[in-house]
Amino acid sequence: MSLIFSLPVILEESKKEYETIKAAASSSEPFFPVEQVNDREGALPNMLVHGDNLAFIQYLMREKGLEGKLRLVYMDPPFYSKASYDAVIRLKSRKIPDDCAIKPTAYDDSWKTGIEDYLRMLCIRLFLARDLLDEDGCCWVHLDWHAVHYVKILMDEIFGQRNFVNEIIWNYKSGGTGKRNFSRKHDTLLFYGKTSGHYFHPLQEKSYNRGYKPYCFKGVQEYEDELGWYTLVNMKDVWQIDMVGRTSSERTGYATQKPEQLLCQIVESCTRPGDLCADFFGGSGTLAAAAQSLGRHWISCDMGGIAMACCLQRMAQKKSGFTVLQMRPDPWGDALELDVKIEQLRGADEKKVTITLRAYHGRMDRIGLKDQERETVEAFLRQDSLQLLAYWSVDFHYDGKTHRPEVSFPKAKEEIETVCERRGRDIHKISVRTVDVFGGTTLKVLDLSSWERSR
Ligand SMILES: C[S@@+](CC[C@H](N)C(=O)[O-])C[C@H]1O[C@@H](n2cnc3c(N)ncnc32)[C@H](O)[C@@H]1O
Repeated sequence: MSLIFSLPVILEESKKEYETIKAAASSSEPFFPVEQVNDREGALPNMLVHGDNLAFIQYLMREKGLEGKLRLVYMDPPFYSKASYDAVIRLKSRKIPDDCAIKPTAYDDSWKTGIEDYLRMLCIRLFLARDLLDEDGCCWVHLDWHAVHYVKILMDEIFGQRNFVNEIIWNYKSGGTGKRNFSRKHDTLLFYGKTSGHYFHPLQEKSYNRGYKPYCFKGVQEYEDELGWYTLVNMKDVWQIDMVGRTSSERTGYATQKPEQLLCQIVESCTRPGDLCADFFGGSGTLAAAAQSLGRHWISCDMGGIAMACCLQRMAQKKSGFTVLQMRPDPWGDALELDVKIEQLRGADEKKVTITLRAYHGRMDRIGLKDQERETVEAFLRQDSLQLLAYWSVDFHYDGKTHRPEVSFPKAKEEIETVCERRGRDIHKISVRTVDVFGGTTLKVLDLSSWERSR
């Protein structure tokens, strides 16, 4: 059947499923707050979530009461490209001669069951996203030629044609060329308001004068930069922004990472400082990074372990405060070997505690790696296993429930700290949490009284 006839059916079925989800009396699947990074009091609404976004949206509505509270939902889902995407993870070690890059699959966009299933998946989430938005809020969906035209028709039904605001063309230079087609160099972003009264703050851009010379028109403010003279005009709907380059400081190695500038333009035009923005296909966390730098709050959800590890590293490096949620508690920390040194400081009621990581024995057998890469990972596990960690953190006052670290170590420039020192009073129970580059986690709890007794 032609897709044109399937669209009303897809819409109808998705709407039914959405209504069933909303009407379900039972509570949603639980999400466990496993860590509060740079936010010991848990005062910030920022959330980094590892799990399926459908379950998480239900959790936000039922457990967090966030229906009608979000100002911006940005969705950068798989594009129905029929491909799968690799992340590039660089590993460096003094014990292993060559620097290595492994390329595990970050996420799959092959949709063997067809475009109808893909559109249904998106439609249900769009219905729910609409309900999460406040009356001034807006929704952006980031796609390309593969599916955007069908999604536009579905969004017209879900959000209402009159609430369609813009089709933004993001034009870039990188990517391949075709022998039988013009080179494809743009993505399309669909921008809808929840209502026609959505919040919008126009941005400005440079418009260079012809010949880059000053016009000197009366009443027109002109500026000059290294290219020449320009005026400032309201931003147009075609955005020329470079993809994240190989050497860019923004680069996380996550496949299909979007540039922060693109997300900053969206966040700045559609939200005010303090507003809550969400990305339910968060990947490496570009929306979170943009929101953080502009003083907005953020939620970033992704079902991939590599995405979660990337986003955690990125946001911890930015010193952002947030809660990490996942669908299961952390497994017990048997995979982590560490040493603890406790010194009672003379003349003070204080201890000095030094934690030194020794080795990590995380299970990597379920990760989709090619043979040679598996050998590389095994070599690291044998010789320099701590290099497989993306992040670790220590809570020196663990309350037995939530890991709320005082110190955290995101891997930066392919290096990770392995020693953590702390002086303080009332240090009795310590928790150490680790996250490896594939998203595997552990939580190790050290009870100092039994530790001291056993020495
Ligand atoms: C295009 S990528 C997002 C890239 C991201 N904007 C960035 O800048 O890094 C799409 C992401 O959606 C995630 N994803 C796909 N289906 C999902 C689902 N049902 N729940 C949560 N995440 C999902 C994939 O794991 C992938 O990371």
